[in-house]
Amino acid sequence: MHTLRIYRYDPDSGQAPRLHDYEVEVDDSQRMLLDVLLRLKATDPSLSFRRSCREGVCGSDAMNINGKNGLACVTNMRSLPETVVLKPLPGMPVIRDLIVDLSGFFAQYHSIKPYLVNDERPPERERLQSPEERELLNGLYECILCACCSSACPSFWWNPDKYVGPAGLLQAYRFLVDSRDQASGERLDNLEDPYRLFRCRSILNCTDVCPKGLRPADAISEIRGMIVRRTV
Ligand code: SF4
Ligand code: SF4
Ligand code: FES
Repeated sequence: MHTLRIYRYDPDSGQAPRLHDYEVEVDDSQRMLLDVLLRLKATDPSLSFRRSCREGVCGSDAMNINGKNGLACVTNMRSLPETVVLKPLPGMPVIRDLIVDLSGFFAQYHSIKPYLVNDERPPERERLQSPEERELLNGLYECILCACCSSACPSFWWNPDKYVGPAGLLQAYRFLVDSRDQASGERLDNLEDPYRLFRCRSILNCTDVCPKGLRPADAISEIRGMIVRRTV
């Protein structure tokens, strides 16, 4: 038996947010937290959360699980204590129950131009990289934009409109080290600012919570080094 203590909030009801306890018996067919949530939703359709892939790929079921951000679909019930407290991602406006408004998060992501910039005519087949150049993208391209990191970052909580946050900065670095990209100068100009990059305080919450094992804080530190040594 588990008690799932879930944050409930319906702005249309006029009631304040509350924690609601659901008692659930978990059998082997519900190995993951998301399986249990889906079963609960079958009995209480008003319970709201996002999910899609069930495989740790889409990033949509990020939530705060017993105080730590993570993905429900890759959280094994056996790893959780008897009482599980589920809250929406911290520091983000709540739309309903476990669903948060990610528009600020995505606005910061888009602000770093998360795409290849190269004005040269592309070769007939593809822009090639050496194995060494391709290797530099490992640990960066795998981000699923779940927002676990940025919503665990105190610097992002205080300045979500000014500080890019760890997810956006990880992607900024991904394009800065891409041998095919030609916009390094503009990318660094865009980040050389007391808030956009330098608001990071190296607390490492971001790296601690990333469900894909990525290290945004390392990427941030590399960008800082690029700005200090910049020649473009
Ligand atoms: S290391 Fe930087 S980006 Fe990561 S949680 Fe701390 S302040 Fe935020
Ligand atoms: S870096 Fe990790 S925690 Fe942050 S958005 Fe990407 S996958 Fe999620
Ligand atoms: S449902 Fe897609 S990552 Fe969990």
